[in-house]
Amino acid sequence: MDEIRKIPFVDLKAGFGPIKSEVMAALEDVFAGMNLNLGPNVQSLEQEFAAYCGTKHAIGTGSGTDAIAIALMAAGIKSGDEVITTAHTFFATAEAISCAGAVPVFVDIDPATYDIDPLLIEKKITKKTKAIVPVHMYGQSAEMGPILDIARRHRLKVIEDACQAHGAEYSGKRCGSIGVAGCFSFYYTKNLGSYGEGGIITTNDPDIAEKARLFRNHGHVSKYEHSVMGYNSRLDEIQAAILRVKIKRLEEYTNSRRAVAAGYNELLCNTPLILPVEASGRKHVYHLYVVRSKERDKLMQHLADAGIGTGIHYKNPAHLQEACKAYGCRKGDMPVTEKICEEILSLPIYPELTDADVEHVSGKVREFYKGV
Ligand SMILES: Cc1ncc(COP(=O)(O)O)c(C=O)c1O
Repeated sequence: MDEIRKIPFVDLKAGFGPIKSEVMAALEDVFAGMNLNLGPNVQSLEQEFAAYCGTKHAIGTGSGTDAIAIALMAAGIKSGDEVITTAHTFFATAEAISCAGAVPVFVDIDPATYDIDPLLIEKKITKKTKAIVPVHMYGQSAEMGPILDIARRHRLKVIEDACQAHGAEYSGKRCGSIGVAGCFSFYYTKNLGSYGEGGIITTNDPDIAEKARLFRNHGHVSKYEHSVMGYNSRLDEIQAAILRVKIKRLEEYTNSRRAVAAGYNELLCNTPLILPVEASGRKHVYHLYVVRSKERDKLMQHLADAGIGTGIHYKNPAHLQEACKAYGCRKGDMPVTEKICEEILSLPIYPELTDADVEHVSGKVREFYKGV
């Protein structure tokens, strides 16, 4: 019997191999200096990431979730304010809005891009609405032009949830540089991932930058002095040292992800699957490669039997989570999100995936459709 050729959904070891010696040297430097609290690597990474995104400031945090909560607080969002966001996201977006004291108000998505549908936003604006948090889902920017127009008309702050979109672009501008602030995750599976947890806020606004620096570090202004109630959410020096090795390769990683996506697009275009679409004027960085199938669960099982890892991002929409019960949403409120949650399937995608791997996965998908 042929041995099964396994292709995991993510492969952190494959990514580590080529950078191992550089990472180990960076860690030795950290341990030699033992400057562990907002040390030199955090400070340098903040400058490097701001330059990468094209913003004046970047403020490292303990996670992407904290980056969103802290950016909202730094932008003046207060208890009881309403913040509009998408129903189709990782739950942390809603959680971060709640952590900032605000109420998440969900909006359905554009079925072509899976990003928030700008045409549905204005209906949800009330006197309490203070901000919009569009999520650049799967690595493709939300439709920021109309979102910024709405925000301008209603005097709302736009905080980008760019946790899946390092390097993605809208009209030539990098995500994270379009709203008043952008929020990124360095969770280890992300396009720029640490080997643990981390996040960062990008902004051109000096006031938001200053407040975010306070909020992430106990409101600490000088030794023994705290001006505001904040959090303990500093980016860790060890993770920053690792991220500095990886940020140099981020463009290369993005190009490889785009090549994997192009391979799948070519090899799967004649199947019944709905494939991802890169909208005009946007640069997709394919944090996830998500297809849609009416037979999603059977296809997922077929691929699992063949040793191929897949995922569902996400199976249960944010507005229907138990934790969001108090916000009064019901099944049927977000028809597009609810429909696609039954059909979406994420195929393996990471920079180290070879052409042969992409052919193998695509072959197994085509094999499934021959048998249906
Ligand atoms: C869209 C989105 N928002 C927020 C987050 C939260 O980031 P973290 O896990 O770093 O807290 C994530 C990642 O997990 C995400 O994918």
